[in-house]
Amino acid sequence: MADNRPIAVFDSGLGGLTVVRAIRRRLATESIIYFGDTARVPYGIKSSPTVSRFAVEIVRYLARFEPKAVVVACNTASAIAMETLADRFDLPMFNVIDPGAREGARISRRGAVGLLATEATVASEAYPRAIGRLVPGARVLAQAAPLLVPLAEEGRDGDDPIVRLAIRDYLDKLRAQNGRLAGLLLGCTHYPLFRDAIAAEAGADIEVVDSADATATMLAGELPAAGLAAGADGPGELHCLVSDNPQRFGRVGSRFLGEPIEEVTYVGPDEFFAVATAHERVK
Ligand code: DGL
Repeated sequence: MADNRPIAVFDSGLGGLTVVRAIRRRLATESIIYFGDTARVPYGIKSSPTVSRFAVEIVRYLARFEPKAVVVACNTASAIAMETLADRFDLPMFNVIDPGAREGARISRRGAVGLLATEATVASEAYPRAIGRLVPGARVLAQAAPLLVPLAEEGRDGDDPIVRLAIRDYLDKLRAQNGRLAGLLLGCTHYPLFRDAIAAEAGADIEVVDSADATATMLAGELPAAGLAAGADGPGELHCLVSDNPQRFGRVGSRFLGEPIEEVTYVGPDEFFAVATAHERVK
């Protein structure tokens, strides 16, 4: 039986649209409700309790739409809040770290994996832990690359000299950690926009993978297995909701999504914080 309920996808802001893009390419008939927390972005420099609280508030809000599953499309929230979310809500919950880690584990069989991510994701050690569960003893060298987030949001592309300089600097810091890199894992929603530039700076023998593509591949397997796949009639719809500045989201977001964004709905605090306990285990 087809399940045509939407998948709820959320991120701290625009970045999760790279995950939506990968999902829509792979699973074109799935409908998606996307929430971008543009009023509170970035999460990558915030503390764990704050990121967890934000994630709970967002899933509480999205649960009203009766999604069939939730995809935490933010690496930082995935690194920090998954246990809290799984404990709190009775919804199938997917994150971007586990699929990304699977790619990292594959690379780690050939040598060290270089991880680029936000400060909070690096500090959480979620990626090395997840990769280590798959390949015990795997070597992961992590480097926070926070500047790439605002550079992507500013609309700069991979040929921009400032972007190139930032990438070179972060890769130099990774290399200085003394490991021959076999590949690079892009553990932040924004970095796929600079994928070609990162690959060019890293060198031809370094494989570059990202968690957005890996998440779409994982969903393509998991949704049918759980009886949650949409029917064959497409294309799936996409509704974007944001906590601030819908115009900017529409303008900049289409670059992340790779297609025009038709409509963006602003969700004000009264609506966002209205008490609703659908799918929430009362604590
Ligand atoms: N979405 C975040 C991530 O993937 C990057 C932007 C932010 O710091 O909020 O980690």
